[in-house]
Amino acid sequence: MEKMWAGRFEKALDQKANDFNSSIRFDCRMFRQDIRGSLAHASMLAAQGILSAQDLEDITAGLTSILTDIEAGRLPFDPEAEDIHMFIEAELTARIGDAGKRLHTARSRNDQVAVDIRLYLRDEAAAITGQLRELLAVILDQASAHVDTVMPGYTHLQRAQPITFAHHLLAYGMMFARDIDRIADAVKRMNVCPLGSCALAGTTYPTDRYKTAELLGFDGISMNSIDGVSDRDFCIELLSALSTVMMHLSRFSEEVVLWSSWEFKFIELDDAFTTGSSIMPQKKNPDMAELVRGKTGRVYGDLVATLTVLKGLPLAYNKDMQEDKEAIFDAVDTVKQCLTVFTPMLAGMKVLEDNMLSAAKKGFINATDLADYLTRKGMPFRTAYKISGQAVAYCIRNGLVLDTVPLDVYRSWSDLFDEDVYRAIDLAVCVQTRTSAGGTGHDSVLAQIEWLKPYLG
Ligand code: ARG
Repeated sequence: MEKMWAGRFEKALDQKANDFNSSIRFDCRMFRQDIRGSLAHASMLAAQGILSAQDLEDITAGLTSILTDIEAGRLPFDPEAEDIHMFIEAELTARIGDAGKRLHTARSRNDQVAVDIRLYLRDEAAAITGQLRELLAVILDQASAHVDTVMPGYTHLQRAQPITFAHHLLAYGMMFARDIDRIADAVKRMNVCPLGSCALAGTTYPTDRYKTAELLGFDGISMNSIDGVSDRDFCIELLSALSTVMMHLSRFSEEVVLWSSWEFKFIELDDAFTTGSSIMPQKKNPDMAELVRGKTGRVYGDLVATLTVLKGLPLAYNKDMQEDKEAIFDAVDTVKQCLTVFTPMLAGMKVLEDNMLSAAKKGFINATDLADYLTRKGMPFRTAYKISGQAVAYCIRNGLVLDTVPLDVYRSWSDLFDEDVYRAIDLAVCVQTRTSAGGTGHDSVLAQIEWLKPYLG
């Protein structure tokens, strides 16, 4: 196919160089956005008297038929085309003649591609937000069912203090709520229209940039044409938000892997979301969680790749910027794929409450409560802390837990101990008395569920 710029050149582009240069194999996915941007641009040109009403009619009909044909699979992308923008423009001109050649008036591919990516990512951001809402709904359902399910809470992966499973799940709920906020915040800056920046300097034509921005549903226009075509902050911000989503999913996945091991056995994943082993008949592997954990690296890589592409780039557009798309598309695809599997996996997991409770009963996770008991009776916390530590050491030596130490032994350490100590260190009581805001107590957990509900949309 002859290049649009053939007039300036004596030789055709080398085939290897053409293949290297071409982005159509990955930017073809923006065909809808490209056509939408062109339709808006043409309407604006006509409204401003830059394009005739007849040309607008022909362009609109031509672009609409191209859209229909691509969607119907009747118009395959030409792998020889340099990119989706060139492909659609060439196809338009083949269909409608000279009017097609007028579409690119007061426009450059530099502002065109910047608009296309923003339109594309805006939709993807909305789709991912929808998926995060679905995940949050599952978290809230599971949490509501386990407001009183006691489990050990961990620090350093050592049993630390009793908590409820709901409280633990809601910690993830908070993370995903912030992710929803972060994506919305990135979209605010993304939703600004660069169209009309042209190659870099604006144009001599009497365009109306606010009109195209409005037609395309943008909140405003980019205020500097050089920035308009050079800015990819919106990609980086979204990549950063998506990396954080993956970091959260990865931590959650790690716990799902741990919890479904025989060592923990806190949950059992549904058969539909686990795999067997080709050699060990007893195995039920949490592959989905492991893959989500593993795919996190790709998304971080996409972020770092994009930051690095932009690093040291002089203004304005440079072809390096074509590298933005594979990274951001990969990140978007990966996050969507992970959420598609993670959410139903979580919805279908069986919670083994008895195992959680028996793990909570071991590990002396009520030792802080024992110290608090003495503190409430007037002993300074540090002294109480020491006595509680002695009690734990005594239990270890004698094969006891704090709940089975006889009262006379307790009293030999301090006469502040009384019969009521056993109630004070009962796990259910330990949990329910953590009534501080944000704590693991019943009412606090219910309040957290209510707090998260608006995020369901
Ligand atoms: N395919 C190109 C990209 O993705 C479109 C912009 C090309 N602009 C240019 N001046 N060569 O970046």
